[in-house]
Amino acid sequence: KKSTISIDKHFVVGEVDKRIYGSFIEHLGRAVYEGIYQPGSPFADEQGLRKDVMELIQKLNVPIVRYPGGNFVSGYHWEDGVGPKNERPEKIDLAWNVIETNQFGLNEFMDWSKKADTSAMMAVNLGTRGVEDAKNIVEYCNLKGGSYYSDLRRKHGYENPHDIKLWCLGNEMDGPWQMGHKTAGEYGRLAAEAGRIMKMVDPSIELVACGSSSLYMDTFGSWEDTVLSECYDQVDYLSLHQYYGNAENNTPEFLASTVAMDKFISSVISICDSVKAKKRKNKSIHLSFDEWNVWYHSHEQDQKLERWCKAPHQLEDIYNFEDSLLVAGMMITMLRHADRVKVACLAQLVNVIAPIMTSDTGAWMQTIFYPFALISNHGRGTVLNTIVDTPVYETKHGDAPYLDCVCMMNEEEDTLTIFAVNKDLESSMEVTCDLRQFADYRVKEHIVLTHSDLKAINTEEQPENVAPVKVENARMDNGILSAVLCDKSFHVITLG
Ligand code: AHR
Repeated sequence: KKSTISIDKHFVVGEVDKRIYGSFIEHLGRAVYEGIYQPGSPFADEQGLRKDVMELIQKLNVPIVRYPGGNFVSGYHWEDGVGPKNERPEKIDLAWNVIETNQFGLNEFMDWSKKADTSAMMAVNLGTRGVEDAKNIVEYCNLKGGSYYSDLRRKHGYENPHDIKLWCLGNEMDGPWQMGHKTAGEYGRLAAEAGRIMKMVDPSIELVACGSSSLYMDTFGSWEDTVLSECYDQVDYLSLHQYYGNAENNTPEFLASTVAMDKFISSVISICDSVKAKKRKNKSIHLSFDEWNVWYHSHEQDQKLERWCKAPHQLEDIYNFEDSLLVAGMMITMLRHADRVKVACLAQLVNVIAPIMTSDTGAWMQTIFYPFALISNHGRGTVLNTIVDTPVYETKHGDAPYLDCVCMMNEEEDTLTIFAVNKDLESSMEVTCDLRQFADYRVKEHIVLTHSDLKAINTEEQPENVAPVKVENARMDNGILSAVLCDKSFHVITLG
């Protein structure tokens, strides 16, 4: 098969906001306990934070991590997780039917995020709590001192404010499974009032309102419209959440999920802009795709979990090669909307539907680790409007292109990078791209992630069974790039 990519360095989508490469740590399963925090482990530092996990997170290059949930946050009292550890209560967590020991909390997370070279995106509980508690946590985290909650933080050993800039107004409030689930009208009002008071405490913060938990929620569309009609002035971002699975074992359909994701993003942008028009506003609402991933492998096993245990093996999807292709495709899809998708969080980061897994003997990389790391590390700069002329195939989402692709220009480093997934399971793709505007560029590197077995996985013993390799299948001739992308593969081609 053959495809043509067309770009013009003057036709840009926009600058990438590095927070598009965010991730997520929830108090869920072994994400916190045995994931990032395991006192007594040979890999832990003096605070019990796992250094081997931090090293892998640094390789992923994750600038922001959402915390502490997720469904968990909708029943959480953040005060339970601060102060002397021996005074912290053990409580039931009704989101995941477990016991939360509260031995790790807000301050430990902030210490961890510094050590892991990342920053926090903090969620407040708008399920079982409300405006008052949302105010208190911002005061605790962001005020210098001289007030009850800021002085409490100092008493807890944190003299300087945490200065958290990005806050989520609750989580998935449209979902009937959510503690304190609300109608769009109820939530929109609450988000407006919580947001208003949080910005009264610290006007420098930015706020994310809950959009739909998936494109397939019955309330999708009207939820976004009603919520934004209530809280447009107070918020900066609207969230999107979406997970895909391949339970039917239909890989072409599974890989075509990027078409659905693209529609989801475009639809939410349209609704944001429709509210903007109705309200005659100048400000645009940006998108925070703050939960996205593949999630289905662990569903069956999770049905069998006993209630009220501590940090069980929960949502521990073992990812295969085809999952890594979709993860690459989803990142390409978001980058193509970089003008509006400013924040995104791969859900999640460690052990729970995660690129990184831990055991008592070490930490290792799942298949999806690699596309994330490659795009996060190479995908900085300006996204170009990338026109892809490629054959398509029919799917339930509509016609799916065989080639998913986006080009990025990095003026500082004087490079051009192409990310591309060839979804064809049998044929290679011959790609050409007219790069006469970059005529003096040469192919610096061509990295490919591929495997003969779509279901191949990585394990602790073989963390590089599915891993990227360097190839030389791309070349520049008189300003024309030509590359051969083998069947079922993800590519990073860097020119400079
Ligand atoms: O990421 C796992 C869960 O998925 C989150 O807690 C919730 O927000 C979503 O439903």
